[in-house]
Amino acid sequence: MKKHFLSTEDWSQQALQDLLNDASYLKQHPLQNHLAGKSIALLFLNPSMRTRTSFELGMQQLGGMAIVLQPGQDAWGIEFEPGVVMDGAPEEHIKEVAGVLSSYVDMIAIRAFPAFQDWSVDRLDHKIKGLAAHASVPVINMETIVHPCQELALMMTIQKHLKTVKRKKFLLTWTYHPKPLNTAVANSGLLISSKFGMDVTLLCPNEHYLLDAHYLAAAKAQCEAHAATFTVTHDIEAAYTGADFVYAKSWGALPFYGNVQAEFEQRKNYQHFIVDGSKMAMTNQAKFSHCLPLRRNIKATDEVMDADYCVALEEAENRLHVQKALMMHLMGQQLKTEE
Ligand code: CP
Repeated sequence: MKKHFLSTEDWSQQALQDLLNDASYLKQHPLQNHLAGKSIALLFLNPSMRTRTSFELGMQQLGGMAIVLQPGQDAWGIEFEPGVVMDGAPEEHIKEVAGVLSSYVDMIAIRAFPAFQDWSVDRLDHKIKGLAAHASVPVINMETIVHPCQELALMMTIQKHLKTVKRKKFLLTWTYHPKPLNTAVANSGLLISSKFGMDVTLLCPNEHYLLDAHYLAAAKAQCEAHAATFTVTHDIEAAYTGADFVYAKSWGALPFYGNVQAEFEQRKNYQHFIVDGSKMAMTNQAKFSHCLPLRRNIKATDEVMDADYCVALEEAENRLHVQKALMMHLMGQQLKTEE
């Protein structure tokens, strides 16, 4: 059976740790030739800076080739629904896209954000699942309703700074943003911190900003398996106090999904959730990070972003190293680390 990287939920902690170990080696020894003759197609249905650059460059640094396609812009738009009469904008079906690309390249990666209309539909993550079902090569998630590559980069960064991560306090804090954003990175923050046994705290303004029940339950179960704690709070001071690592993200309130104005009426009241120096002072000398892009002085202040404790750039760099390790693993390539 072909192996995909759709969600870290499908991978064991040890398998993820193996990738992180390889990524650390690749960070020190970036130029390798393990993927010579291999190729990957990168399908971007949404914009990107970090993901596109790190995958393209990473493949090149391993001797392989990456081909970027933006369906609906420089490639034909794709229909993902099965059995529909295709009389709309998309020109071809995911069945043909997956089949054709599988005959050309060795891996396919996709970024497919939710449609932001109906969460009961978007939460099924049907676009990447459709691609994975019809591709005969490994499929990589470059962000859908989770962002597993970001998770690896985050955990690589946490491990570098905290050394032992088990039972350390990981705070995922909601922040204000002018638009209702995807929950993917927030879902992923819960998944990876709990997978590695951290004491996880989710801080959000009120019950409307709780993440999807699936991710709350998954995080709670993983924390319990490690005898770690899983806490949901709306109390800023309690959340920050004693935190070892602060991770910020904004997301839209799921009960108002698809209704931007109604959601804004909620969100506009919570601009004080911004990460600032006074909140960070309540922590246990925590590091701060964010997946980026980040609006300064909206999500976090200049003071926080420019502080020594901000490791967001390091996390972004680690995207390159973890994705190289991942692509090598999916291609069955082992690092030759003896020197
Ligand atoms: N964090 C992240 O995925 O960045 P991009 O949206 O720029 O790819």
